Amino acid sequence: MTNPDIAADEAARDAAHAFQAKSLTADDTTLALLFTEARTHYGWQDRDVAEETLRELYEIAKMGPTSMNNQPMRVVFVRSEDAKDRLEPALMEANRPKMRGAPVTAIIAYDLNFWEELPKNFPPNPAAADIFRNNATAAQVNAFRNGTLQGAYFMLAARAVGLDVGAMSGFDNAKVDEEFFHGTSLKSNFLVNLGYADTSKIFRRLPRMAYEDICETI
Ligand SMILES: Cc1cc2nc3c(=O)[nH]c(=O)nc-3n(C[C@H](O)[C@H](O)[C@H](O)COP(=O)(O)O)c2cc1C
Repeated sequence: MTNPDIAADEAARDAAHAFQAKSLTADDTTLALLFTEARTHYGWQDRDVAEETLRELYEIAKMGPTSMNNQPMRVVFVRSEDAKDRLEPALMEANRPKMRGAPVTAIIAYDLNFWEELPKNFPPNPAAADIFRNNATAAQVNAFRNGTLQGAYFMLAARAVGLDVGAMSGFDNAKVDEEFFHGTSLKSNFLVNLGYADTSKIFRRLPRMAYEDICETI
């Protein structure tokens, strides 16, 4: 009888080889949608976001890589007026209308106990959870690093499904944690307003750092 893990590894190599042979690169439209023309938005049309679109967004975002496949991001979609009322007091004054105007605001959080899922998410190392079980610093560093990466994948996936996004870190994390995550191992990271933008509310594009100033080859 063949070992199912070995068969799965072989199938994955075949699929990766066939995919690589296509030599794909993103076309200009895709780059514009995700990066070059996409903007951060602050105002929103009175147009709802379908629940199905949020699921589609997550199904794309979840494929982004994390260390040991640890996937610490957790998301709360704040949609109801009640939930928005609970979120509002934690926000800087200037950020409140941006959140209130958006049909959905995602609280991008991370779970400090992400390692409890490692036996399922990282079966190649059955002892992976032990690295974090008694090491709160390692758990915090890995949860924050990978949860933040996943937050970035989340924003790009939102653009990929046709949503506009506006991220916000101008809020009191402790207040959000108390209101939404009290008594849990979840911590808030940043917020993402989601919807269809009112483009009259954006500002001019701000400069990006030059390759020469940022990158070096050694
Ligand atoms: C993690 C994160 C936090 C941000 N926090 C805020 C915020 O609290 N309030 C705000 O108005 N904009 C906030 N922004 C928006 C940034 O200023 C904006 O994305 C940046 O200037 C680039 O704008 P552009 O995408 O239109 O080029 C945030 C963006 C990110 C990614």
